[in-house]
Amino acid sequence: MSGFSAEWLDLREGADHAARNPALRESVARAFADRESLTIVDLACGAGSNLRGLAEHLPARQKWLLVDHDPALLAAARARLAAWADVAEGGDILCLAKGARRLEAEFRVADLSCGAGAALAGEADLVTSAAFLDLVSPQWLDRFAEQIAARRLPLYAILSYSGEERWTPPHAADARMLAAFHRHRAAGLARRGFWRKRWSVGVMRSRPRRAPGVSARRRRR
Ligand SMILES: C[S@@+](CC[C@H](N)C(=O)[O-])C[C@H]1O[C@@H](n2cnc3c(N)ncnc32)[C@H](O)[C@@H]1O
Repeated sequence: MSGFSAEWLDLREGADHAARNPALRESVARAFADRESLTIVDLACGAGSNLRGLAEHLPARQKWLLVDHDPALLAAARARLAAWADVAEGGDILCLAKGARRLEAEFRVADLSCGAGAALAGEADLVTSAAFLDLVSPQWLDRFAEQIAARRLPLYAILSYSGEERWTPPHAADARMLAAFHRHRAAGLARRGFWRKRWSVGVMRSRPRRAPGVSARRRRR
């Protein structure tokens, strides 16, 4: 689970944001519409794309904890967020003004392969993650579901997959790899884990039937 360059993440950012399902995102926005401030944990944040895609849909004051295991990507996130904001200042915690929103962004190097428990230990109102849950195992997802259920935290997770694939150079194992990838189906696995925890789960595809996102919040028993 390594080797993502900031430049490659730049290339996918616009397509990822455009592909996000607006109804699902709106349901996240509605859940926090009466809040003045919100604390958000972004797991595997890369160069900060998820914050840039979500901030305008969340309350006026936001505190973000951006977590990734790659220090170079966290440095890129800091630089790109400073460039994206109207005003940016600060040291360890970056203070950003963007339109009417005021954001604080904290950056943390953490390896999530052993679980997200440490990243979720602090203050949090919303957990989010983009283009990450397809990199983890079913066991990791089950444990993750347990952890956020224990904290009663809502999750907004986004996965982008167009369904198109081309392998260069071709290899005899290509078809088997693709079949295994489809079997993995992170959105389905996540849904299974959260259903077991009796959470309400929404999975919505984006136009044109691409880039499914998953959101989950606790169901009433
Ligand atoms: C496809 S990128 C998505 C980045 C970002 N969320 C976005 O949407 O642009 C996957 C991210 O997962 C991070 N990652 C992979 N394995 C990780 C791990 N074990 N712990 C923490 N981050 C990890 C990578 O460094 C990378 O930033």
